[in-house]
Amino acid sequence: MADDDQAVRYDVGDHVAMITIDRPSARNALSTDVLRGLCAGLDRAEADDEIRAVVLTGGEKIFASGADIRELRTTSPAGYLQSERLAAWARFGRFPKPSIAAVAGYALGGGCELAMSCDFIVAADSATFGQPEIRLGILPGAGGTQRWARVAGRFRAAELVLAARTVDAWTAREYGLVARVVPAERVVAAGVALAGEVAAFGPVATRLSKAAVRASEELPLAGGLEHERALLGTLLSTEDHFEGIDAFLEKRSARFTGR
Ligand code: HXC
Repeated sequence: MADDDQAVRYDVGDHVAMITIDRPSARNALSTDVLRGLCAGLDRAEADDEIRAVVLTGGEKIFASGADIRELRTTSPAGYLQSERLAAWARFGRFPKPSIAAVAGYALGGGCELAMSCDFIVAADSATFGQPEIRLGILPGAGGTQRWARVAGRFRAAELVLAARTVDAWTAREYGLVARVVPAERVVAAGVALAGEVAAFGPVATRLSKAAVRASEELPLAGGLEHERALLGTLLSTEDHFEGIDAFLEKRSARFTGR
């Protein structure tokens, strides 16, 4: 498809990669090509030691409208289970560096789930979040039912998933989904600024901190605490940990190297 040729852009800034979905003719629908482009961007960001955080964004009016409904029309159950799209979602879940979704306009269905697969969501005042899959006779397939319930509570999740209600940026912040709401024209800059803050910390501590927080989605408390202690034990053997402490005691900025 011609409009998919450049559907995902990758740009590099100061220790931060920006991945932009750019398929406006289909409202940034997450076709297999787009998912492939997102995976390629994450692969590149993961392999590049200079990159310490990723900002994922869309357009001014649309972050992403969810799964490509035209593709979905021809997706069989067996095809879905073996699909590249399923593998792509698994890949998003395995991305080890911090990720920030900068959301302007609609984040619907898989688009909302894509934002929720990130570590932070910065929202424009124009942002609208929702899981309208029920209108199509299906349900969210990339974490929407589970993540909304965990973040906002089961009853709010039911409003989104069963009643196809959408929420604006402030409501999403009140629900705990969104870290901050900013004017639309500043959302990308706010995402990049947050990425820059995160990128300034030691990359190993950042990676393990992300893993620890993510484990809270999976593990019961006792297991999560054990996991946390084990990760802390690992960090106590890093050079960055000595550097962080020395910098504090010497009243200077730390120079983390990732060792
Ligand atoms: C394919 C899409 C699309 C989508 C929009 N388009 N969303 N194509 N997949 N998800 C196409 C339209 O068909 C139309 O094509 C063009 O983009 C413009 O769409 P409009 O509706 O005219 O745009 P607008 O009025 O700006 O409204 C934007 C919108 C609306 C609010 C985002 O398009 C919308 O509600 N889209 C569907 C959202 C949705 O239901 N998402 C859930 C998908 S299922 P033409 O050719 O007519 O110009 C999902 C989970 C699946 O995500 C899990 C199982 C795998």
